[in-house]
Amino acid sequence: MRQKLVVSVSGKGGTGKTTITTLLLRALLHHTKHALLLVDADPVMNLPAMLNINIETSVGEAATQLREDIDAGAISAGTSKQDRLEGEVYEALVEGEEFDFLAMGRTEGEGCYCFVNRVLTHILDTITANYDVTLLDMDAGLEHFSRRTDRNVDVLLIVIDPSRMSFDAAVRIRDLAKEVHIEFKRIWVIANRFPPSLIKDSSDDLERRLNDAGLELAGIVPADDQIAEFNLKGKSLLDLPDNHPAVRTVDDIAKRIGLLSEERLLELLGRTPA
Ligand SMILES: Nc1ncnc2c1ncn2[C@@H]1O[C@H](COP(=O)(O)OP(=O)(O)O)[C@@H](O)[C@H]1O
Ligand SMILES: [Mg+2]
Repeated sequence: MRQKLVVSVSGKGGTGKTTITTLLLRALLHHTKHALLLVDADPVMNLPAMLNINIETSVGEAATQLREDIDAGAISAGTSKQDRLEGEVYEALVEGEEFDFLAMGRTEGEGCYCFVNRVLTHILDTITANYDVTLLDMDAGLEHFSRRTDRNVDVLLIVIDPSRMSFDAAVRIRDLAKEVHIEFKRIWVIANRFPPSLIKDSSDDLERRLNDAGLELAGIVPADDQIAEFNLKGKSLLDLPDNHPAVRTVDDIAKRIGLLSEERLLELLGRTPA
């Protein structure tokens, strides 16, 4: 792809961000040849366990160590802090056959470490530029990505479940995105874990309420026992069958929001392919 796409999945805790991220990854793996980076940007870090990925370290650990060394005056004049952090971030990158994986983890410590944050932002920009699509499983805080480059098309997906709280959280996240000046080119809402009976009766109503709030619905993913079962048994959702209802819905969503074809993406962005 000529366009580098960075897709952030946010939403209230427990709405299904990690589940949706995984199913979007599955759609990309099955229907594209894009070079893919998956980032766990939620401090809770559920993705490695859900996908059975072994991680040795996280970006947060490396940044925390650097902060501590700066505070302790333990960095010699000759060492470039930027080079050191960059090296450590690349060490944290898990290279897989089908996609690469990076765990952001948690940065410990108080106060503003603007230097470390700025360097981290720069490094992440450099890394994501190596991939066609970067998928970020985020929390509701939109941390890590208050940054701006023109190379990327940033898309924000906000996951809601059938609760008023998650709907309100979606509106807050959209407002927060504006405040931190992340220029998302598109923002979509994905409704998740809706009882199938409710989907039929309430989808028009949901769409209208979202539109009234200035949000756009990408699709509704049904509540599904097999998803819960896979989670409980520690099985990867990447192994769900093609004809699974949630898989099919998320495939449709991925197509609709332009993840599967660059033509569709450019169409959504109001540009014609060069
Ligand atoms: N469509 C769904 N059907 C059934 N269970 C779901 C569905 N989506 C998510 N879950 C379950 O809900 C719980 C929270 O999902 P998760 O993706 O971890 O949420 P988040 O990342 O937003 O905290 C998990 O146990 C997951 O298996
Ligand atoms: Mg999660």
